[in-house]
Amino acid sequence: MISWTRASWRQKPILQQPTYSDLAELKKVEDELRKYPPLVFAGEVRKLKADLAKVSRGEAFLLQGGDCAESFAEFNANNIRDMFKVMLQMAVVLTFAGGCPVVKVGRLAGQFAKPRSSDFEEVDGVKLPSYRGDIINDNEFTSSARIPDPHRMLKAYNQSAATMNLLRAFARGGLADLHQVHKWNLGFIKESALGDKYKHLADKITETLAFMEACGITSENTPMINETVVYTSHESLLLPYEEALTREDSLTGDWYDCSAHMLWIGDRTRNVDGAHVEFLRGVKNPIGIKAGPTTTTEDLIKLIETLNPENEAGRINIIVRMGADKIESEFPKLVRAVKEAKKEVLWSIDPMHGNTIKASNNYKTRDFNEVLREVKGFFKVHEEEGTYPGGVHLEMTGQDVTECIGGAQDITEEKLACRYHTQCDPRLNAKQALELAFLIAESLKSAHKRRFGK
Ligand code: PEP
Ligand code: CO
Repeated sequence: MISWTRASWRQKPILQQPTYSDLAELKKVEDELRKYPPLVFAGEVRKLKADLAKVSRGEAFLLQGGDCAESFAEFNANNIRDMFKVMLQMAVVLTFAGGCPVVKVGRLAGQFAKPRSSDFEEVDGVKLPSYRGDIINDNEFTSSARIPDPHRMLKAYNQSAATMNLLRAFARGGLADLHQVHKWNLGFIKESALGDKYKHLADKITETLAFMEACGITSENTPMINETVVYTSHESLLLPYEEALTREDSLTGDWYDCSAHMLWIGDRTRNVDGAHVEFLRGVKNPIGIKAGPTTTTEDLIKLIETLNPENEAGRINIIVRMGADKIESEFPKLVRAVKEAKKEVLWSIDPMHGNTIKASNNYKTRDFNEVLREVKGFFKVHEEEGTYPGGVHLEMTGQDVTECIGGAQDITEEKLACRYHTQCDPRLNAKQALELAFLIAESLKSAHKRRFGK
């Protein structure tokens, strides 16, 4: 093993990177980014790690969600607010109905770089380099738009900083106060059976708060009532950007990637001898590892040992994304291998990326029922293996989009065209996300009952 520095990844084979034509300009941007303030602080990252360690012990549940890819065009306060609200709603459902505290992590404030299954995209006989996320190039199908531009990293940094700023304000400035639980309901959810179900739960919370207040437990003496924490995460893909934001913590002397609290490694770049693993092994952040149907038990154990040699709890989150058809056949062997090797991990389920399909009208979509089926399969495997289903990882939005089919709203293939706005993969809309939270809460409650008898 070579000795780690924040640049040692440069000596390793790397996948899924853009080819910048002007390397001097790239260097200038990297030097500029290196001078910018960190987006998160090491102390916060350690706090998340402690929270995730609780999840791995079965004492909490992880809700990780957000856009497949954030975009420069869709950047505005309302979109961030609505995403925040739907995450709070889901968290409150999981906490109240599922009976367990929730750790909230957004795919937010930095989720800009996308791995692609093909380097090129072909439309009507015209072949252009693939879109790789707004931090790299533009989605428009023209040859100039698809040229990678390093300056986009500066714009992505600034958008991430502004998003982070608003998230911190929402989390501590009153919007997350449990007394506001009714107001988190988004307009288009209110007028539906799901809206009623949420209102019923919110009424119970309001009643409970009044009772607690009468007993002397108030927002003044219990800050958990009126504020929350939403951590950030993204795929650690564009390594020049990640390297430039990696800093040495003055308190501990450890290195942290200060572009987000948590980073994950994608299904396409998790080669143990590759650049992405090399980079992540040296930073202390919690690390997600995507595990798809091609992940072998040997690969997974080697990855865990490389990324977490000290077997520290809260460091590794295995994000399983097998697809509804494969979860029950492919996942148990991974759980058994990790259990046998006595590795400390948190298991979460990404029921999105193994369930992407093409609708008959060519829209890339996902079926709500398949998403749910994979989540249920994940819970079932854990029940059989005696392990803990620690969390979910979702692509979702606070907007009323029509990108995934199914759900109580019953979005059909024909309706996909109405509001199909995603920059990359299809997201659950706020109603579908909330509906899923209610359904997951039932499974979570039983998982807890089995574990703790209550
Ligand atoms: C993603 O999370 O957006 C993604 C591309 O996932 P995966 O690496 O699991 O395919
Ligand atoms: Co995606």
